[in-house]
Amino acid sequence: MRSSSAARRKQKLKRLKNKSVLLGVTGGVAAFKAADLIRRLKDVGASVTVMMTEAAKQFITPLSLQVASQNTVYTSVFQDPLTHISLPALADVMVIAPATANIIAKLANGIADDILSTAFLAYQGPVVIAPSMNGKMFEHPIFQENLKRLLSFGIRQVGPESGTLACGEEGKGRLADVPDIVDSVIAAVTPQDLKGRKIVVTAGPTREHLDPVRFLSNRSSGKMGFSIARAAWIRGAAVVLISGPTALKSPSGVILRQVDTAAQMLRAVTEETDKDASVLIMAAAVADFRPHLQARTKAAKDNIDSLVLDRTQDIIAHVAAQKKKPFVIGFAAETGGKLERAKQKMQRKKMDMIVFNDVTEIGAGFESDTNNVVILDRKGSAKTGLLSKDEIADAILDRYLKIKT
Ligand code: PMT
Repeated sequence: MRSSSAARRKQKLKRLKNKSVLLGVTGGVAAFKAADLIRRLKDVGASVTVMMTEAAKQFITPLSLQVASQNTVYTSVFQDPLTHISLPALADVMVIAPATANIIAKLANGIADDILSTAFLAYQGPVVIAPSMNGKMFEHPIFQENLKRLLSFGIRQVGPESGTLACGEEGKGRLADVPDIVDSVIAAVTPQDLKGRKIVVTAGPTREHLDPVRFLSNRSSGKMGFSIARAAWIRGAAVVLISGPTALKSPSGVILRQVDTAAQMLRAVTEETDKDASVLIMAAAVADFRPHLQARTKAAKDNIDSLVLDRTQDIIAHVAAQKKKPFVIGFAAETGGKLERAKQKMQRKKMDMIVFNDVTEIGAGFESDTNNVVILDRKGSAKTGLLSKDEIADAILDRYLKIKT
């Protein structure tokens, strides 16, 4: 039997392995989050070198970021006269987080008066900015003009988020969540092989209600579908994620449509696939049955002897039967090694590809961060072995691209 520690070891995909990240930290209250950002970038394999503005030093010390990055922190152009040229020359990606209104104004206008702004001008690779400031500052037309100008040079923006800001006001201006900044950095250095394609992904369970407090559902956590949505976005696709109830946060850049029942998922999938989708990937565990009657008030248990169930409509079969349809990828959750059943399911529902998921395997199926599947299409099959769900997601997208390029 394979141990669960082996499964855990496989969980982290080092998407920034051997990548050198040049991180610019500017003087906003969110600067303290730079230490966490560094840790998470290193966690996915990156080496990180930090440049700080004078104002950033008011919020976090260079020493803290030196400890976090295990690298020299650069705070002045004169620390070493050629650093502003040599640092960018070695970087695979530059990220500025937090990026204040001041630095965005300077970069948009070519002003180079400190280590960060001079290194930016000397850098020719991908750049990600994570703006963070007071909501009124963010909305100011002059700032918006500067931001628009900067983005017109192909720079990626992540955030800001809306909510309560450090100053106590409500508004848009909070630094993007650190994992979302990491995803944007990953996307900036990942080949955009899905660019120009719209991918619709389903995830999670559906709930079929008996009354306002009881429902029929299943163990799906949504992790598999969310990993697929995130991987597709990182690779440049426009992604719509249609999810049943889960505890997961939507991956950055993905449009999330939350649904509850199989009927709602059918409606959302139909609407999205009608609108020029290239691919539909159904990782959701859609309920096959729903109660024949749904009570408006809580049914007394003494009044329930048995349940009458109706079949839900098969969403994937419905889409695959359309004349103008996307490339259709389904999953087959099975208990036991019945690969043949998955093949039959693919043919019966007219899918183009199916992912056979034996949910009885250790570390596979519901709720875990890992999975172990066989990807089948009309031409053959490929076993993935035990991998993180992020890696399984990439394997599915790779196989799709092999067929559809
Ligand atoms: O969410 P996680 O915790 O990460 O778990 C992942 C998973 C185990 C849910 C996932 O990997 C998986 O196997 N999903 C498919 C589950 C399932 O419903 O399998 P199925 O064999 O019953 O259905 C076959 C296909 O038809 C599936 O693509 C399903 O989405 C689709 N279907 C099913 C019923 C229905 N009414 N409409 C559908 O479209």
